[in-house]
Amino acid sequence: MNIAVFCSGNGTNLQAIINAIKKGKLAADLALVVSDNSQAYALKRARRAKIKTVFIDPAQFRVKSDFEAKLTEYLMAERISLIVLAGFMRILSSEFVMKFRNKIINIHPALLPSFKGSHGIKDAFDYGVKVTGVTVHFVDEKMDHGPIILQQALKIEEGQTLEALEAKIHKIEHKLYPEAIRLFTEGKLEINGRKVKILS
Ligand code: GRF
Repeated sequence: MNIAVFCSGNGTNLQAIINAIKKGKLAADLALVVSDNSQAYALKRARRAKIKTVFIDPAQFRVKSDFEAKLTEYLMAERISLIVLAGFMRILSSEFVMKFRNKIINIHPALLPSFKGSHGIKDAFDYGVKVTGVTVHFVDEKMDHGPIILQQALKIEEGQTLEALEAKIHKIEHKLYPEAIRLFTEGKLEINGRKVKILS
């Protein structure tokens, strides 16, 4: 199955996916890495792994639909069956989500529906929760909202620093995301409304 990963930044989740494929833990063809940021370190990681990359500059498009039309062209050309958002800092339109309904997944560094948005780890930490975690979910029209595929909880220890928490969260992400992609590519996810059943 051909998959595409969309990134805007560092790309540690992309790296975890690349590594899982290399190790044979994930049987997917990572056919395309897309970024909306030419400086994203994720692009370097992809090039190093000899994966096709494309930088699509949002500033070059008058409206979002034109940007997404270009995006769609690339996805069609590579026959992409799964879009993996990994630190992609752009909200996709409802039209785009509808076109790829149940074929886009995202990872969020908190236990949804808590602490949505781009600072999930810090927001949970500042709030003083004792348990946080990681969520992988399908993408729907609302931000950080679609049906949940996998979640893993993590206790926040007494006196733990934000930096230490971030490191632990990322470590969980790097295991959970390849696992969720594996389940998808093996056809083991059955969606029923908000519920995602994992088939054995
Ligand atoms: C991750 O924490 C992910 O949960 C969030 O954005 C971050 C991306 O990190 N959506 P990286 O670019 O994969 O290192």
